[in-house]
Amino acid sequence: MKKILHIISSPRREESNSTLLGKSIIEKLQAQHPGSTVVTNNVVDKNYLPLQPVHVTAYKLPDESHTPEQRKALQNSDEAVAQLFHADIVVISIPLYNFNIPAALKGWVDHVVRGGKTFSYQAGRPEGLLTGRKVYLAIASNGVYSDGPMKPMDHAEPYMRFILGFMGMTDITTYRIEGSGMAGVMETAVKKGLESVLI
Ligand SMILES: Cc1cc2nc3c(=O)[nH]c(=O)nc-3n(C[C@H](O)[C@H](O)[C@H](O)COP(=O)(O)O)c2cc1C
Repeated sequence: MKKILHIISSPRREESNSTLLGKSIIEKLQAQHPGSTVVTNNVVDKNYLPLQPVHVTAYKLPDESHTPEQRKALQNSDEAVAQLFHADIVVISIPLYNFNIPAALKGWVDHVVRGGKTFSYQAGRPEGLLTGRKVYLAIASNGVYSDGPMKPMDHAEPYMRFILGFMGMTDITTYRIEGSGMAGVMETAVKKGLESVLI
């Protein structure tokens, strides 16, 4: 029995390929680990604010010295961090936007990468504090980036691998629904992407 956290970052709801792929990964995980629970965080709905002065100041202070205003401003961040600590498996559904992650997901990143909570500096070196978790990235794109000439243009997967690794999450597997804007590929893109999920 596993505790699964699903991060959704497409605004396209039922139309979203990244959400579909993430759900398919979760179905297979649930079949493998009956009784697993799923917490969903739709970061588009949650609308994590671009960091304001209050966040940046509060991030540097210990919890016990936060003012009521800082505590309130950090509520969403604290909840997002707690969700990560609670999870055994994190599935992150990502629509590729302008060769990178969407702003809604970057907002979530800015609210979970926190010194003293998800990483710390030991002897001048960063140490991730969220070790021991499995992560699946479910990436959807119109182009094909897993291989071929466009591979170097995908900044989403390398960035997510880096920033999750920075927080200690280094066991990462990527699945894709890709080529859904390319004639000759789009016809089978969804089927191929869903069938590629081996768990
Ligand atoms: C604002 C925007 C930017 C996009 N940028 C790219 C891109 O850089 N490369 C690409 O292959 N597809 C791009 N797409 C297409 C999406 O990646 C594609 O529609 C994907 O299926 C979106 O994921 P979703 O189905 O989960 O919403 C873009 C779509 C939008 C709306």
